[in-house]
Amino acid sequence: MKALRVGLVGTGSIARSHLRAYREFPGVVTLNAVCDIRRDVMMRFAAGAGVKDCFTDFREMLEKAEIDAVDICTSHDQHEPQVIAAAGAGKHILLEKPMGRTPDECRRMLRAVEEAGVTFMIGHDLRFLPQTRGIKRVIEEGEIGKVRVVRCELFANMPPERNFGAGHWLLDGNLAGGGMLISGLIHQIDLMRYYIGDVSHVFGICRTVHPEFINGAEEYACATLEFAGGAIGSVMLVSSSTRNPYGVQYTLFGDDGTIYSTPSEERVIQFGAGMIASARRDAEAGTFGRFVPVAPDYEGLVGDDPFVNEILHFAACCREHRQPLTSGRDSFNTLKVVFGIYESARTGRRIDLATI
Ligand SMILES: NC(=O)c1ccc[n+]([C@@H]2O[C@H](COP(=O)([O-])OP(=O)(O)OC[C@H]3O[C@@H](n4cnc5c(N)ncnc54)[C@H](O)[C@@H]3O)[C@@H](O)[C@H]2O)c1
Repeated sequence: MKALRVGLVGTGSIARSHLRAYREFPGVVTLNAVCDIRRDVMMRFAAGAGVKDCFTDFREMLEKAEIDAVDICTSHDQHEPQVIAAAGAGKHILLEKPMGRTPDECRRMLRAVEEAGVTFMIGHDLRFLPQTRGIKRVIEEGEIGKVRVVRCELFANMPPERNFGAGHWLLDGNLAGGGMLISGLIHQIDLMRYYIGDVSHVFGICRTVHPEFINGAEEYACATLEFAGGAIGSVMLVSSSTRNPYGVQYTLFGDDGTIYSTPSEERVIQFGAGMIASARRDAEAGTFGRFVPVAPDYEGLVGDDPFVNEILHFAACCREHRQPLTSGRDSFNTLKVVFGIYESARTGRRIDLATI
């Protein structure tokens, strides 16, 4: 098997998580080039990664580097131009979430990659956790019956003065496309879609308090979701409060059982074990409503690191010419939920996502 040769652009914080895949599986994915407009940051990253081909201009990397694919880890304002340039150069594309800042940006990217016939995957890494796969399997097997209600929360514990310097792009609605909903809670919204399918309508409220958040970037949000399959849901984002009990939690309530996630001991924005109580398990154990861990499912995954699993999935999809689990088209449906919440917060109306 020939390794997929990758050029990574944006050697900032998330690139360090991606690097683990290139380090551990160089025979599957080889990091051949890196690019960043900040030369010093890039040179440190390249030295750590053992990469010699370094560029401060993305188009130059596309022209000169020996690569089959790009791994785009830049700020959201760079996603559309970089995806369109990479597609034009015939490179497969792994793009960090969110795909774009507006529906039109997403549509233009989808057109470009589909015309070029390249693989296009968005980095919704939570789908590549073994806990997630275990829960997905249990839902598909019907153990909790029809899911009626979902609830998920992101308590990000990221007051701007502590987590981002003033003027950071993530705090700027123009550069990021919004605030911590499009940057953070989008992960959990994508996960709920993965579990129970598309959302049809949303109603949302967003709030900004700190002056560091500019151009409409929100730091608090809550929204009601209606799923196409009939379930209802609520999502909540608390980004800036300083003393949170845990980072992320979700619960799925079905006719025959309930699943909830426990907080991770190691990482703030991921999960511990999924816990389940179901009619089937009660019948087997002679209990009522006792929660037990859901077994993680490692099928198709190499281990616990969602970024490593995600990047190996991307390489397999490029090799085998198949659609990634988190394809551009699929991820656009996650973003429509985010765009719908923004529109609802602006207009005070319930939004039909078919209109986005
Ligand atoms: N999956 C996750 O859990 C997760 C977590 C954090 C961030 N992200 C996503 O990863 C992406 C990057 O976020 P980050 O936190 O690493 O940001 P960052 O600011 O730490 O890094 C971005 C890097 O891109 C570089 N850059 C900007 N414009 C460029 C250009 N035109 N050419 C080359 N380099 C350029 C910057 O200099 C910077 O080094 C975003 O899409 C973000 O939403 C995902």
